[in-house]
Amino acid sequence: MKALVTGVAGFVGSHLAERLLSEGHQVVGVDCLTDYYSEELKVANLAEVRRAGGDFTFVEEDLRRTDLESLLKSTTHVFHQAGQPGVRLSWGRDFAAYIEANIDATQRLLEAARESKTLERLVYASSSSVYGDAEAFPTTELDRPMPRSPYGVTKLAAEHLCVLYARNFGLPTVSLRYFTVYGPRQRPDMAFTRFLTAAATGAPITIYGDGEQIRDFTFVADIVEANLRAASTVGIQPGSVFNIAGGSSVTVNDVLARIEQMAGSALDVRYIEAVDGDVRRTGGATEAFSTATGWRPKVDIDAGLKAHYSWARNRARTVHPAD
Ligand code: UGA
Repeated sequence: MKALVTGVAGFVGSHLAERLLSEGHQVVGVDCLTDYYSEELKVANLAEVRRAGGDFTFVEEDLRRTDLESLLKSTTHVFHQAGQPGVRLSWGRDFAAYIEANIDATQRLLEAARESKTLERLVYASSSSVYGDAEAFPTTELDRPMPRSPYGVTKLAAEHLCVLYARNFGLPTVSLRYFTVYGPRQRPDMAFTRFLTAAATGAPITIYGDGEQIRDFTFVADIVEANLRAASTVGIQPGSVFNIAGGSSVTVNDVLARIEQMAGSALDVRYIEAVDGDVRRTGGATEAFSTATGWRPKVDIDAGLKAHYSWARNRARTVHPAD
């Protein structure tokens, strides 16, 4: 593979690039190091990618402005992980950043990909947030997407673009709807990194709402494996959309209890009002992707939490106090 990984300095992008490099693939990684969270963390992620060795080129560019045709030259596989993340911050004036990074950038990438003579597949990182408060559980790809956050609206819009470039031009796109990804290097604004850093430092934890919201948490290595299978499995129809979920639907309160048990000490937990855009429950059916590719999530919540905790503890000690 000659892969282009967008958002390579981010959480999923850096893990994916590392895996591709370790398997001997050539990787060009692009990232514009947005200020959504500390640049230092992204630079550290890139250092991990470089440590994997292999044929890696980093391009610090913004997908909305860079010459994408050159970037895609001889690329066989695109893994489009870049975007403006975060469900809870996508309201108000900040929405413009979501439109630009999630919709405009994806549309430019798809236009450039149309011209490619070498592209075999383009995998788009979609999101469980397209479902909003879903119609049914476990939610299948046939259930109606009804986002609850502006973020979810932009992820769904970009997914629709991937589908329509496939329908109109035969572009080999596959969209993967990730369900709350966690593991080492998870963004500092996300629940597990906050909770586990607090467990390591004794800092207080803030819970939005009563903590009874349910998430289908997915370990990052399972997400990476899903990307590789989506890229390499023969016969996936252009424009396909699949759920990628870890299969462990648990409440936030249950996660806190598991962390307390693992850390061996009580957490300082404070409950405040729920935030707009936060859905009550997610839970994804993954049979469609399993049938197409043989993929199954391998890391359960306790094993995943352990790996994430070890990283968070290390980071709290060496790099950063709690964000
Ligand atoms: C996550 C990602 O942040 C999104 O980018 C992604 O698109 C989405 O998953 C998805 O699955 O599509 P979220 O589920 O909100 O969104 O992820 P977490 O930050 O892990 O939050 C899980 C739950 O914990 C949420 O209900 C949230 O409100 C809660 N939470 C989070 C807290 O109570 N306190 C915190 O400090 C952080």
